[in-house]
Amino acid sequence: MANEANNFQELISHCKEYGYIFQSSEIYDGLAAVYDYGQNGAQLKKNIRDYWWKSMTQLHDNIVGIDAAIFMHPTTWKASGHVDNFSDPMIDNKDSNKRYRVDHLIEGFADEQRTTGNDKLADEVLASMDALLAKDDYAGLKKLIEDNNIKCAVSKTANWTDVRQFNLMFKTEFGAVAADNPDDNIVYLRPETAQGIFVNFLNVQKTGRMKIPFGIAQTGKAFRNEIVARQFIFRMREFEQMEMQFFVRPGTQMEWYNFWSAERKKWHESLGIPAGKLRFHDHVKLAHYADAALDIEFEFPFGWKELEGIHSRTDFDLKQHQEFSKKKIQYFDNDLKEDGKPYGNYIPYVVETSVGLDRLFLTIISLAYAEEKWTKEDGTEDSRVVLKIPAKIAPTKLAILPLLKKDGLPEIARELMNDCKNSFMCFYEEKDAIGKRYRRMDAIGTPFCVTIDHQTKEDNTVTIRYRDTMTQERIAISEVKNLVLEKIS
Ligand code: GAP
Repeated sequence: MANEANNFQELISHCKEYGYIFQSSEIYDGLAAVYDYGQNGAQLKKNIRDYWWKSMTQLHDNIVGIDAAIFMHPTTWKASGHVDNFSDPMIDNKDSNKRYRVDHLIEGFADEQRTTGNDKLADEVLASMDALLAKDDYAGLKKLIEDNNIKCAVSKTANWTDVRQFNLMFKTEFGAVAADNPDDNIVYLRPETAQGIFVNFLNVQKTGRMKIPFGIAQTGKAFRNEIVARQFIFRMREFEQMEMQFFVRPGTQMEWYNFWSAERKKWHESLGIPAGKLRFHDHVKLAHYADAALDIEFEFPFGWKELEGIHSRTDFDLKQHQEFSKKKIQYFDNDLKEDGKPYGNYIPYVVETSVGLDRLFLTIISLAYAEEKWTKEDGTEDSRVVLKIPAKIAPTKLAILPLLKKDGLPEIARELMNDCKNSFMCFYEEKDAIGKRYRRMDAIGTPFCVTIDHQTKEDNTVTIRYRDTMTQERIAISEVKNLVLEKIS
């Protein structure tokens, strides 16, 4: 039935028009790469977060959740390597003074080549880029850009500076009293939530009497001074991560790395993401803390991009915090004798799963957005814009719509609303023709609408309409709550 056109710009406008996502501080012309979630967006985001939290902490009896502060002692970031290494190779265009992340500039060029059917060149350029990045060969990267005549989008010239490194952490000052040395007041906005887990490793392990292997999960804001932030909420300067650090015995990390890679891909599929739109991409250049890493990529409207990272972080972080804090951060393995293995006290190895909540939001909403057109039985054309968000995470589950504002129909509708609103998010509306109200509910992605009409007064039945198929059926009003609960569970 549906003729589906998936237009990214229209999706962005739709998100604004229906209270999903607004540009931050829009009345002041916005702040680049920072976004606010509106009434529907905040609820969808919460539902995705809750789904992740539950699957990590409730469905795994060896994973617990914490909520660490955004501000951390500045030494944390020296120990973790972020002060020295959390930087990206950048290049400036001398004519426009615009700065680009080198990999983004080259990837943008490769994407352009694909749109004109030049896949071979795109593949070659990306392979060369990966090899040069792996060797930190900045002169080679500049030559690659020049050889392919890659131009700045603003000046349209290829007049480039040398490639240089820029740190991505935001700094701010802590406390009101000026320190003798200004550097003593500096704190960073965390660029990843993971470090809050590492510095609390022993607190959680001891108070929770956790036995290896076990995980600590956390969701929260992270901040990166991304140089080129683009593609809507794909790359933001303030974003939210959902991370889980899984602590394992040294030597078993690859087993767990493979386990969590497969497990996390399956989890995304459980959210209705088709398997064919997800793939693994192994990292060629590893982060300073990793001995293996891959991305779970999703096919976004603008191409295959990273959705989640799986990293085998070795014992790097805990070892560094042990060294910098001078506090022993080790685990005593009680199972030592049973297994007869040479463990005892050791620093655990870590396998990390790290997904961006905003990126997952974009995944869900871009899959859900559809513009549908069809021919009705009488030969006339009809159309709608619909968000087919999986019912279990849709912001509003049920719309309750009295056909008329009179004859006792609103009272029956309110009674149903009162019965259901404790169990799931409901929406009540009595204004406008019913067809118009259905279209509005389609546009915000409400999976079920119930209409109360005069027949309801006679036989206690209502019409339930299903968003995805637009089919309707008559059911007893007493069945509505259970039907919705069953569909969203
Ligand atoms: N603790 C590991 C870590 O932070 P990462 O690959 O840099 O690893 C993990 O980030 C995830 O966070 C990414 O897969 C992505 O989903 C999300 N992410 C990273 N930078 C982002 C940004 N600027 N905007 C939105 N999401 C971002």
